[in-house]
Amino acid sequence: MQPGIDRPLRVAIVGSGPAGFFAAEALLKSDIETYVDMFERLPTPYGLVRSGVAPDHQSVKQITRIYEKAVEVDRFRFFGNVEVGKDISVAELRARYDQIVFAVGNEGDRRLGIPNEGAVRCAPSRVFVGWYNGHPDYRHFKFDLNEVETVVVVGNGNVSGDVTRMLAHKFEDLLGTDIAEHALDILELSTIKRVIVLGRQGPAQVAYTPRELGEMGKLGDVAIQIDPADLVLDEVTEAFMARTHNPATKKNLQLFEGWAARQDGDTARVVEFRFFRDAREVLIDEENCIKGLRVEKTRNVDKGERLDVELTGETEIIDAQMMITAIGFQGQPIEGVPFDLQRRTIANQEGRVVEGAQFVGDMYVVGWAKTGPQGQIGLHRKASAEVVELMKADLQGLPHRALPPLDEIKGLLERRNSGQITFSDWKALDELETRRGRRRGTPRMKFTGVDDVLEVLGKA
Ligand SMILES: Cc1cc2nc3c(=O)[nH]c(=O)nc-3n(C[C@H](O)[C@H](O)[C@H](O)COP(=O)(O)OP(=O)(O)OC[C@H]3O[C@@H](n4cnc5c(N)ncnc54)[C@H](O)[C@@H]3O)c2cc1C
Ligand SMILES: NC(=O)c1ccc[n+]([C@@H]2O[C@H](COP(=O)([O-])OP(=O)(O)OC[C@H]3O[C@@H](n4cnc5c(N)ncnc54)[C@H](OP(=O)(O)O)[C@@H]3O)[C@@H](O)[C@H]2O)c1
Repeated sequence: MQPGIDRPLRVAIVGSGPAGFFAAEALLKSDIETYVDMFERLPTPYGLVRSGVAPDHQSVKQITRIYEKAVEVDRFRFFGNVEVGKDISVAELRARYDQIVFAVGNEGDRRLGIPNEGAVRCAPSRVFVGWYNGHPDYRHFKFDLNEVETVVVVGNGNVSGDVTRMLAHKFEDLLGTDIAEHALDILELSTIKRVIVLGRQGPAQVAYTPRELGEMGKLGDVAIQIDPADLVLDEVTEAFMARTHNPATKKNLQLFEGWAARQDGDTARVVEFRFFRDAREVLIDEENCIKGLRVEKTRNVDKGERLDVELTGETEIIDAQMMITAIGFQGQPIEGVPFDLQRRTIANQEGRVVEGAQFVGDMYVVGWAKTGPQGQIGLHRKASAEVVELMKADLQGLPHRALPPLDEIKGLLERRNSGQITFSDWKALDELETRRGRRRGTPRMKFTGVDDVLEVLGKA
């Protein structure tokens, strides 16, 4: 028996990425008997571990073994192919669960807000990443890489790093990965020669983690170019670095310096870092297709806590036939859940969902939906467990009420032709994908369409 209620606790988790699974782990191993139902809009679990993490980062994907183990109890159910806010409303969940945890990540993109950003062959990283990872929403996107010689990737963070590697890799180096088949077919025909990584700030302000940045230097048959002048630190940067002592900044600078000094000779592709340039306009041809980028040079200014840049008025044209923006993500509102329009996250105080300043009583948020798009997978374990501790602390305040029988939700979803994918279904699909992959010498060969998944599982 629990404090506050006189029966086992019932919790719904919305979203099955790292934050959702780590919340499930903490709930299922808690000393309070808890039944957990997880709702996921896609037919497959694991969020960005499946559809974000780059195919050349296979070891990172091993984290899913921990998730599988954590939910190996019959108090856990997975309802795949159920979008909360569309297939079932938040009010309907609130009527069936004592507490709800939103772990929905960030389903929107930050935009540059410049003219012609939506031109042909311009896309946010979510689309390109989703395409090569076989996300059902993006698998049909057309990336005609056989028409492209130069790509600009905007942004200096780890997603920009992933995108740049995927564009610069030798095709053969992707063969042993779980990249989607359709992407492999297109990448094989790629005519890309140069990937320009555009930063609006300088090399001391990049957001890469050094380990991930270092991978760029290990790409086969790829030269790296940097203007050595960009690596000469100005007074503002020197002063900032002396104040902040950030070891990552030093390591990143060492990497850039090493590459600037490297004699790469002739290579199939070049990755060029161009710093201190802000994208101002996408230049297009008569078919609305990108043909270049107008950028404006910037210079550093000291803003106390952080370094920033200001525009100099000096502009430059970069010829390019494709642009990917990797400048971050943002949350999207879900009907019935208070949303903070400024931070673009679910409105919350330390994970408790608030309306104004008032806790709504039964809703919580974890992961990127709580914090915005920052941080690697591992940190969600502690962060989600901390929110689960708050949930336990709040049990006393829950109303005593009877809930519908456990299986009632299944009937509701079946009537709506949704929720057919259970965790056993996923495991069967996982086995099929890995078996298909094994035949090809790859870790897995994904089914990328919702209909394909339903069909192969005999649920179409
Ligand atoms: C391209 C990319 C590569 C990355 N690579 C790495 C890496 O190599 N190593 C690393 O440590 N970190 C990496 N990260 C960071 C890591 O992926 C994130 O920290 C983490 O995935 C965030 O977890 P989350 O659970 O908050 O969100 P997500 O992983 O985005 O999961 C959210 C889930 O909620 C589901 N959902 C959304 N809305 C609804 C709804 N209404 N109803 C039901 N379900 C819904 C989504 O389909 C998704 O499955 C990467 C991030 C990106 C973007
Ligand atoms: N392998 C991995 O471990 C891995 C892989 C991918 C992602 N991740 C994690 O996922 C999180 C999100 O990564 P991310 O790369 O999307 O975000 P990020 O780390 O915040 O980097 C975003 C980059 O975009 C730039 N940017 C933002 N707005 C811009 C604009 N209008 N014009 C030009 N540049 C702009 C930022 O520069 P400013 O500083 O100038 O704003 C920054 O360089 C990070 O925590 C990252 O570490 C990890």
